[in-house]
Amino acid sequence: SRSIASSKILNVTRNVQQLNVSQQRNFRVAVAGASGGIGQPLSLLLKINNLVKTLVLYDVQNTAGVAADLSHIPTQAKVLHFTGAENMSAALKGAEVLVIPAGVPRKPGMTRDDLFNTNASIVASIAEVAAKSCPKAMVAIISNPVNSTVPIFSEVLKKHGAYDPKRIFGVTTLDVERAVTFVAEMKSLNPDSVNIPVIGGHAGTTILPIISQATPKVSIDKDKLAPLIARIQDAGTEVVKAKAGAGSATLSMAYSAARFTDSLLQALSGTPNIVECAYVKSDVTEAKYFANPLLLGKDGIQQNLGIGTLTPYEKELLDKAVPQLVQNIKKGEDFVNKK
Ligand code: NAD
Ligand code: LMR
Repeated sequence: SRSIASSKILNVTRNVQQLNVSQQRNFRVAVAGASGGIGQPLSLLLKINNLVKTLVLYDVQNTAGVAADLSHIPTQAKVLHFTGAENMSAALKGAEVLVIPAGVPRKPGMTRDDLFNTNASIVASIAEVAAKSCPKAMVAIISNPVNSTVPIFSEVLKKHGAYDPKRIFGVTTLDVERAVTFVAEMKSLNPDSVNIPVIGGHAGTTILPIISQATPKVSIDKDKLAPLIARIQDAGTEVVKAKAGAGSATLSMAYSAARFTDSLLQALSGTPNIVECAYVKSDVTEAKYFANPLLLGKDGIQQNLGIGTLTPYEKELLDKAVPQLVQNIKKGEDFVNKK
């Protein structure tokens, strides 16, 4: 099953403990942006993940309150909190996984790229510190626009000689969760048993759900396929509109980030066959960064599983997505290198 309902996180990790205590590893996970709409519920889900020994909350505001609140939940994870740029280096020091939901969210009428001006600097400033404080951490970047913030983070690490492309991930898990949810609804399937790769990037038409590779196999009428793909691509905007100025997806994103982080921790623990889609350095297409299924291991990406066979329609959508990605990637790289 691909689900990580919180009780399952506890059950899975408890089972691991019972089966083989020596296999259990306890990790230090830092959340940068921990006081935000995503950061808080994400930190809650990480507090109840038994692979987490130390949970570090970092933000420019309010981490003391969030930490006090979480610290009353009786799980083994110890919660530490840091606030302010001057304390970021202490916060990130020794993190084995760094999850980044720091930055402003969209309001109705905005694209993710409209967040670039604010969030590019935020992500770059976190990368500057991560390069020195946790250069070996697995980094999961949530801050939008993901298509550009992953290149930004990567370029900053390159400048510090701390770049390892196997360890930097743009989180696209929510696109997979949405594809699974909508297809399971349409086909009356139990979402727990459905998997659908989503490739490309994380904005509009760069989000490419590969319905032809769904498991179990699903057949979708031709007239329903384009609207289904469009709904998955526009799902973020659906939430932005419904929240009407109060932000974008936070709860579904926290769930997705908790699942992705759990997969990183499982992979670090040596659990085999951990596969997740994420947006990473890539030579699968002309775009230097690209999302598709990855086999995760102790050192990050163990194997890039590529995009498999696409239908002619999916290929057509891919051909349209790649130039957009190339542009978003260049914008991110230029931000760091032309400063
Ligand atoms: P939010 O405004 O509720 O929270 C953001 C948090 O970041 C705040 O607590 C803020 O204080 C903090 N922050 C700002 N600057 C910081 C810095 N320099 N260092 C550390 N923390 C800092 O926003 P949110 O709803 O939690 O969304 C956060 C980001 O995640 C947005 O950019 C949003 O677009 C993105 N997002 C991505 C996905 C995805 O699928 N990848 C999904 C949803 C949202
Ligand atoms: C999402 O897909 O929900 C996020 O990228 C937030 C947004 O701006 O849509």
